[in-house]
This record gives sequence, C-alpha cells and structure tokens, in this order.
Amino acid sequence: MVTATVGEQQVKIGPTQLLINNEWVNSASNRRFETINPTTGEVICDVAEADALDVDKAVQAARNAFTTGEWRKMSASERGELLYKLADLIEQNIDELARLESLDNGKPLHDSHGDLNLVIACYRYYAGWADKVQGKTIPINGPYFCYTRHEPVGVVGQIIPWNFPLLMQAWKLAPALATGNTVILKTAEQTPLSALRVGELIIEAGFPPGVVNILSGYGPTAGAAIAYHMDIDKVAFTGSTEVGHLVMEAAAKSNLKRVTLELGGKSPNIVFADADMDQAIEDAHNALFFNQGQCCCAGSRLFVEEKCYDEFVAKSVARAQQRVVGDPFDPETEQGPQVDKEQFDKVMSYIESGMREGAKMLYGGHQVGNRGFFIQPTVFADVRDDMKISQEEIFGPVMSIIKFKDIDEVIQRANTTMYGLAAAVWTNDITKAHTIANNLRAGTVWINCYDVFDAAAPFGGFKQSGIGRELGEYGLQQYTEIKTVTIKL
Ligand code: NAI
Ligand code: MG
Repeated sequence: MVTATVGEQQVKIGPTQLLINNEWVNSASNRRFETINPTTGEVICDVAEADALDVDKAVQAARNAFTTGEWRKMSASERGELLYKLADLIEQNIDELARLESLDNGKPLHDSHGDLNLVIACYRYYAGWADKVQGKTIPINGPYFCYTRHEPVGVVGQIIPWNFPLLMQAWKLAPALATGNTVILKTAEQTPLSALRVGELIIEAGFPPGVVNILSGYGPTAGAAIAYHMDIDKVAFTGSTEVGHLVMEAAAKSNLKRVTLELGGKSPNIVFADADMDQAIEDAHNALFFNQGQCCCAGSRLFVEEKCYDEFVAKSVARAQQRVVGDPFDPETEQGPQVDKEQFDKVMSYIESGMREGAKMLYGGHQVGNRGFFIQPTVFADVRDDMKISQEEIFGPVMSIIKFKDIDEVIQRANTTMYGLAAAVWTNDITKAHTIANNLRAGTVWINCYDVFDAAAPFGGFKQSGIGRELGEYGLQQYTEIKTVTIKL
C-alpha cells in the first residue's frame, strides 16, 4: 500500500490506476501524471492518465453494463441497497478519506469531514429514491390506456472539478445510479485521489462491472473525448462557465447528448442595517472565505447598506485578521492553500487588479509563508460595480465589500451579472427578505443564513451559472428519459 508522509503523519493513498469494468488498469498510452500537495508544492504520487482511447474503453464497458449486464436486470430496490452499502463503506472509512481529500486538495481536515457527512447523506438520500421514481397514467382520448415510464438516460459522462472532489462525485453518481444509468466519471487533474479510493469501495459494495468507471485525466483530452463521444447519452459537468460553453458545443457537434451544467457564480450577499449584525458579519466571512474562497456559490459581491457600512467593514476586517491560515492537518486551521499554482497566480492577479482599479485594500494581499499556495484572507472595501473584482469569479480568499442605499437599487445592481447561481439577504424585515428572494435571478436564495446544503434541496444556476438542477427530487429528472406507452383497449 502506498502512503505519503505529511509532516509527522502518514496518509494512505489508495489506487492510482484507471477504474474500467471493475478492474484497475493502466492507460492505453501508459502515461501517468503527477498530483501535487498544495500545502508544500511537492509531488504526492502519479496516477494513470486517461485519453480518448481509455474513454472509448470505459464507454464500451458502461454500454455493455447498461444493455446486457446484471445492472439492467436488477430491481430498483436492489440498486438502492447498493447505494446504501456504499454510504456505509464511506462512513466506515471516513477518517482515511478525509485525510486523503485534505492531502490532495489542501482543505482543512475539519472541512473534509464536513464534506464527507454531506457525501454520505447524498448517497443515502438517493438510495431511498431508487424505487420511488414513478411515471403516470394519463387519460387520453379514445379507447386507449396511456402511461409513462421514467427510464435511465443510458451511458452518462460526468466531469467534476477539484474544489469538492468527493462531494461532486456524490452529487453526480448518486442520482445517476439510483435511476439506473451507467457512468464514466472524470475527476479534475488537480485532485484525482479520493474518487479512486471511493472506486475501490464501489467495487466492495458490489456494483456490477462497467456500472461506474473512473478516469483521471486532463480536460482538453479525456474531458473533451467524453463531451464529443457519440455513444454517451448525457454529459453532466461542473466547473468554469468557459468550459461549460465548450461542453455544450461538443454535445451540439456530436450526438446532441443531454447536457447539464453547474458553472461559476458571482453571488450577491446583501446585508441590511436591520439585520443581526454580528451574525451577518460572521456568516458573510464564511460565505466568502470557506474552502479558501473556492466555492461556485461564494458570497463574492458583498452589498452592505450605507447605514451600517462603516461598522460592517471594520468588523469584517477584524474577523479576517483573526482567520487562522496554515497546515490543513492542524485542527486550529480555518484556511489551507489554494489548490494549485495556477489558481494561486489567478487570485493574486485579481488582487493586483483590485488595487489598480482603486478598491481600498484593508487587509491581506500577500502570500503566506514561502512554500505551497497560501494566500492571506484579503478584504477590499469601496468596491465599485464596474471593477473586475466585482464582475469576474475570483475563486479565492478575496472579499469585495460594496456600498448600497436602498432595496430597489440593490436588486437592480445584484442582478447586473451574467451569473445567477446563489444569493443571500440579511434582514429582520420579512417583507424585505421575501421581496429580495422573489426578485433576484438566482437558483438559490438564502435568508439570514448561507451555504446551507442538503441532499433534498435542489441546487443550480440561472443564466450562465448553468443548466438543470442537482440534488433533491428535481435532480432525478436530469437522469431519466420519459417514455410514453399507449395500448389500444
Ligand atoms: P475547468 O472548468 O477547466 O475544470 C473543471 C473540469 O473540467 C475538470 O475536470 C477539467 O479537467 C475539465 N475540463 C477542462 N477543460 C475541458 C474541456 N475542454 N472539455 C471537457 N472537460 C474539460 O476549471 P479550472 O481550470 O480548474 O478552474 C478555472 C476556473 O473555473 C476557476 O478559477 C473557477 O473560477 C472556475 N471553477 C468553478 C467551479 C465550480 O464549482 N463552479 C469549479 C472549478 C473551477
Ligand atoms: Mg481549465
């Protein structure tokens, strides 16, 4: 068994090959690539690198499993049992998986545990749905009996990002498997390890060969091969809006595979002076800085009412100064490194652009330490709507505080963005809260809270933040085709 040494600790690595047809195999090219520990910048290990030929092989396995295999004949409740079993196995290995996630991604161990609780809940939630996906009987005209069946879409390609590797794997696999699809899942090149360990648990749970195939590899090669594949019936993608456009284009240029997208955001977090101020300050801090700021729904446009602006800014700066940045394996740590050098550089360039465009930097702005990819929690005040830091997704620990006067103005400004993923409002006035919730063009609105996630509540974007919804009953619709059956009586 391979282990990595992190400080004084050993972390178990798990498999590093491709998972195809329940077998661990090398890639057709025999190529491998390195995955880096963002805490140190050092190589953890290398993993097999999939490309188009490996995607073909995985699709063939998934197609066989879908059309002829055991999976096809399995009853819906048996599929549910397998998902429950997988959830149990993940729970039994929660510490090991959390450590692996923190090693490869850099997120604090405490946060990896939080993610894993949601992972387990997600598999259990969809396990329960497996035998509850039902069609309708429809009273059409004439001597006919008409009904619908909700059938699996077929072979599904799933492409996930690096910010929540295990959770994104769960959001993708659980509804697809509950509804009877077979899957080729491509992990992000920055964080291949934890999903492969779950692959081992998938085999242990008893999923038949070909039902779940897991490939490590890069976007323009393995990812594009999935998006363009003629025998993949649907692609589900989470990542940048830029690549979301490419995935949709690939579907259009190949076989019109179904497309669901969960993309970027520039979510408004709106604080009124009548809110519970200390709570709003603490939660706005977490809404932005959680997961090193690497959240699609980060509260990255923080609109604060003029009347409480100065107090809010001063206390937010004080809170950011207290944020504990350091070793993800230290229980005191609130913030680890950015995931890689590319993200580190991107975030630093946004910080420079904020200063150049005249935002007031009140704290942060620098690298922490001299190894790995750590950035100080950074707070900009007096940010204007036309600045780059207020328009583009930074995906890092950079807070932008923006002043507003009244409700009509803030609704209009909050909606002036190509994104529409999430939003939040802080107020004790119930009318104001609902007015905001009804008028913001976003897939999720939190009132007096932030980042509340539950497997039962749908999540996804308006506008260029995406297409379709994940989680909840709504998430099932994206993994089924409706078949209408009519019988002459
Ligand atoms: P990305 O969108 O390039 O990567 C996400 C996934 O897509 C990865 O698995 C990658 O290998 C794959 N991919 C890349 N190019 C592809 C292609 N041509 N065809 C098919 N798959 C492809 O995101 P990246 O480069 O890691 O980060 C860039 C920015 O994207 C971040 O700074 C952030 O702003 C945003 N992002 C948003 C995420 C979200 O949760 N909505 C997650 C990750 C990144
Ligand atoms: Mg990219």
